[in-house]
Amino acid sequence: MLQSLVRHLHAFAAEVGLTETEWRAGVEALTETGRITDARRQEFVLWSDALGLSMLVDALAHPKPKGATESTVLGPFWVDSSPARDYGEAIFESAVGEPAWVHGRVLSLDGTPLANAEIDVWQNDANQLYGVQDDGAPEEHLRGRFRTRADGSYAFLGVRPVPYPIPHDGPVGAMLAASGRDPWRPAHIHMIVSAPGHETLTTHVFDAASPYLDSDAVFAVKPSLLRDFVWSDAEDRWSVQNDIVLAPRSQPEDAIVGTGALDASIGADLTLAARTSCLVGQWKYT
Ligand code: BEZ
Ligand code: FE
Repeated sequence: MLQSLVRHLHAFAAEVGLTETEWRAGVEALTETGRITDARRQEFVLWSDALGLSMLVDALAHPKPKGATESTVLGPFWVDSSPARDYGEAIFESAVGEPAWVHGRVLSLDGTPLANAEIDVWQNDANQLYGVQDDGAPEEHLRGRFRTRADGSYAFLGVRPVPYPIPHDGPVGAMLAASGRDPWRPAHIHMIVSAPGHETLTTHVFDAASPYLDSDAVFAVKPSLLRDFVWSDAEDRWSVQNDIVLAPRSQPEDAIVGTGALDASIGADLTLAARTSCLVGQWKYT
């Protein structure tokens, strides 16, 4: 692996004719990345996200059979051990945003409902902030863990999410500005869904009406993950239906990581398209 890394690194330097000034600027960016990284902020992962590497690694690690819900990026705002909540419960005490009823079923690939599956959810409020970013919000604001009922159904009351910029006051933000890209992500709700005998799924529900769906700063949009938020006058809230299909686990999870066999079965291409000098991630499964 190291030999390949060195080969590609040298090929890159030779291809662009890397100058000493450019080499020094790269070292300074990495130094600043280390300086700004702490327990709350992981600028190295943000580089990986903003360069499309996280989505490529995800595609290599989690090839999904046809019909299974697709995975996408985890992001920095997941918190371990969110509160366990009951079917239909709100994930906030009070929120700035408009309420949204999020519901659906968790199914196995063959359509069997999965009872007692866990859905770990987190999302931002209309002020753009996740609970962990918002000093004025309660500790457990806008996150929670739910269990599906016997028929695989789940539901909770969240809020309609809004677009927000990834942290862009550090070296990654400087890179985005220098390359004419903006830091915005389209509105979404995060979910990690797990059930015995099935591959754990890290995914989003994207608001199909959100801006930035075609220019997500971290290339995490997949068309199959877009959902319509529908307004109900009677309920005085939004509603979004989102069924989730989990892929059965075919082998122990440990055995899946980094195998050559996988490389043969899936090809994930990150196409770097020059569209207003912005990178556009496109995923192609073969
Ligand atoms: C997020 O969705 O929360 C996120 C993902 C990647 C980078 C920054 C934020
Ligand atoms: Fe997010």
